[in-house]
Amino acid sequence: MNAKALPGQPHIAYRGNELFIEDVRLADLARQYGTPLFVYSRAAMLAALGAYQRGFAGRKAQICYAMKANSSLAVLQLFARAGCGFDIVSGGELDRVLAAGGDASKIIFSGVGKTRAEMRRALQIGIGCFNVESEAEIDVLNEVALATGTRAPISIRVNPNVDAKTHPYISTGLKGNKFGIAHERTLAIYQHAAALPGLHVVGIDCHIGSQITQESPYLDAMDRVLDLVQAIESAGIPLHHIDFGGGLGIDYNGDTPPAADALWAKLLAKLDARGYGQRQLMIEPGRSLVGNAGVCLTEVLYLKPGEQKNFCIVDAAMNDLPRPAMYEAYHQIVPLAPRPGAASTWDVVGPICESGDWLGRDRNLNLHAGDQLAVLSAGAYCMSMASNYNTRGRAAEILVDGDQVHLIRRRETAADTFQHESLL
Ligand code: LLP
Repeated sequence: MNAKALPGQPHIAYRGNELFIEDVRLADLARQYGTPLFVYSRAAMLAALGAYQRGFAGRKAQICYAMKANSSLAVLQLFARAGCGFDIVSGGELDRVLAAGGDASKIIFSGVGKTRAEMRRALQIGIGCFNVESEAEIDVLNEVALATGTRAPISIRVNPNVDAKTHPYISTGLKGNKFGIAHERTLAIYQHAAALPGLHVVGIDCHIGSQITQESPYLDAMDRVLDLVQAIESAGIPLHHIDFGGGLGIDYNGDTPPAADALWAKLLAKLDARGYGQRQLMIEPGRSLVGNAGVCLTEVLYLKPGEQKNFCIVDAAMNDLPRPAMYEAYHQIVPLAPRPGAASTWDVVGPICESGDWLGRDRNLNLHAGDQLAVLSAGAYCMSMASNYNTRGRAAEILVDGDQVHLIRRRETAADTFQHESLL
């Protein structure tokens, strides 16, 4: 049968009039497991990882999946088995990675607000590197390491003051952002860190933002980081690795980010030209590994045509898919079984009692109550950001592998949502 893949998502395709993920009919999953339901393609995740692996063939590179994008245990397990390390930002993420079988030595710990308890635990299990984000944190980490009788491996996260040209909430490499250490201060702070007995300087790190769809911010940031590497090493502080962070965008709605291997071909050419091509590299991709590997299935509850707007009320909401409400993000919404005939314009909204609870605005769809829809590009920053607002249990998650279906998270019940509470 002819398959018609969706743009940017080769593992999600219409076969005839029915939407499939790999070899599984999505309507069957909606029927069996209910909606809202997240469904991921294993092959899509591995293909996305493959693009990075191809890009790094013959190089010393460690891919550390930024697990905040999707931290479900089975997803972490899949990436751990494929050889990935992990970029974590909390003690909770550390425990999750370990529960999923991640290798402690391949963990890097980012984030501007690490607590002493988090540092202690990370030191005890022997993580690979702390990406330190402030002068104050350097001194605290030194103290904690000395108190635990260890030496903390560190990179300093540089803020290169480069515009990632993305949404302001997810741009992190500008002077006005809370992240990293100002470019101009970096050398002095490396000198300070290198003299501290509880620290072991191992690298340099930078991450300039997320959903980056152009090459130029990466190339600019790389130049700035390499200038610093040169200055730091000239001051007698060797750097074992260079970490370029994550941030590569995906195609949500006709976006055209570079492919991971094409982007890295350019970045590696720059590294080679400047004599750093054989240096140990690290990267921290999140969204680009999982975003277009997942969909969220939802059912149309009610159609509510109106004078100014037609509302299509579905059973998924901003607690399941927070990105439209938070960033006015666009996710494509498509029917599992398109109907022939004329479409109308609908705002697709959830049941939550907030006007911000919308999933898509002004969408042309031919809809009836009871129809099932797929919200696309839902593999990253959806389930990991989901909440229980309005006492809605979080959705179930499925990982598809060919024609195999794995329930990787059961649906939360109402009782699950209040199990840790007590009455007076
Ligand atoms: N490394 C660090 C230090 C980060 O802060 C992030 C993301 C990443 C790596 C991974 O970036 P990625 O490859 O996924 O772009 N919730 C927002 C995105 C927040 C990104 C935060 N940091 C969204 O839904 O668009």
